[in-house]
Amino acid sequence: MKRILTYGTYDLLHYGHIRLLKRAKELGDYLIVALSTDEFNALKGKKAYHNYETRKEMLEALRYVDLVIPEKTWEQKINDIKEYNVDMVVMGSDWANDEKFKAIEKECDLLFLNRTEGVSTTKIKEDLGLKKPINGVAQVPNC
Ligand code: CTP
Repeated sequence: MKRILTYGTYDLLHYGHIRLLKRAKELGDYLIVALSTDEFNALKGKKAYHNYETRKEMLEALRYVDLVIPEKTWEQKINDIKEYNVDMVVMGSDWANDEKFKAIEKECDLLFLNRTEGVSTTKIKEDLGLKKPINGVAQVPNC
């Protein structure tokens, strides 16, 4: 049984999320999503439209997702890998050069998948007028 783990906020679930989760699941047999809690998002300066419980409920309804666990800190990754016997961590390519993922490579495989073009939670919020772009540039906050 090959176990895959990925991290994210997954607010306003969209097809970019679905495609990432589908590809992640296809890399193994069991997909775990570590879902950022509302408190962790606040720490990152990010506010989700849907609260943690709602985001979790939606992810759990997806056929690709086997388990949702809370992401509460930047530092929990190594512990998650050990606790859930993770074989591979998969992330969107926006994280490819992030130092926070370097240590993972010593523990298990690490793969970055290309993001789906043209969609993000931030863009949806902007398009619906829920969030204003700064100087016409879509804001993609750290997640
Ligand atoms: N993702 C993706 N393609 C997109 C958007 C997101 O593959 N178009 C991936 C991200 O790379 C990440 C996961 O989906 O691995 C969850 O991303 P998240 O940050 O929750 O979604 P975004 O839409 O990027 O949200 P935001 O705009 O708030 O950063």
